[in-house]
Amino acid sequence: MTKRSKIVVLTGAGISAESGLQTFRGNDGLWEGYRIEDVATPDAWRRNPEMVQRFYNERRKKCILAEPNPAHVALAGLEQDADVWIVTQNIDDLHERAGSKNIIHLHGEIRKSQSSLDPTMVYPIIGDKIGVEETCEFGSPLRPHVVWFGESVPNMDKAIRLVKDADFLLVVGTSLQVYPAANLVYETSRECEIVVVDPNIPQLNIRSNAIQLFEEKASIALPDMVANFRKNHTFGK
Ligand code: APR
Repeated sequence: MTKRSKIVVLTGAGISAESGLQTFRGNDGLWEGYRIEDVATPDAWRRNPEMVQRFYNERRKKCILAEPNPAHVALAGLEQDADVWIVTQNIDDLHERAGSKNIIHLHGEIRKSQSSLDPTMVYPIIGDKIGVEETCEFGSPLRPHVVWFGESVPNMDKAIRLVKDADFLLVVGTSLQVYPAANLVYETSRECEIVVVDPNIPQLNIRSNAIQLFEEKASIALPDMVANFRKNHTFGK
């Protein structure tokens, strides 16, 4: 019997692009229409919580209406063939809805709220909005359960441990411009194979690892790659 491979998949906004959710950077990116410092920082929340809530309420509505695409579905299917961990920068729940079981959200989850006093007090959001008047049981306003710029990333240590132990690291649909998440690609062991899937391959300064680049959309590349892995235990072309 062969040993089951350990696969970590680092995903970013690109994997949800074909589900109709906007990416952040590039021509049509979300940050072309909004300033990060107005909607995605602790300061923005202090200055104008209504604007921040409006921004995330809008994103949440779109997330609820979106459906997982063949890339999310293929990754869920990969669990039959390997031990898979999805480490996602996305705040949508499309990996969950596609059926993936082991998911770490580095930047939070848009369908949950948290106390503005204590980030470990987390609640599911019923419907698509957090009302301005909603509070935790200690009376502090509820805010989106999202990691803002300038905040720490509580799940980073767990993600690093998983990447260090991985046989394969798939990097799908991320520009690798946001830290500390982008550092995960430098945490692999020497034996780990890195596979990048992105129509616009991000800059990577790695020499010692085997790297394969798939310059394609995730929903096109991933179903074939997963089928290939099932037969050959590699994602190779
Ligand atoms: N398939 C795969 N990749 C795609 C597709 C697609 N169909 N369409 C676009 N991409 C790629 C782009 O080429 C780009 O490299 O997805 C990447 C998206 O990059 P960003 O918009 O920077 O998104 P991401 O890397 O997830 O951003 C990281 O930034 O603003 C923060 O918190 C936010 O989690 C987010 C973080």
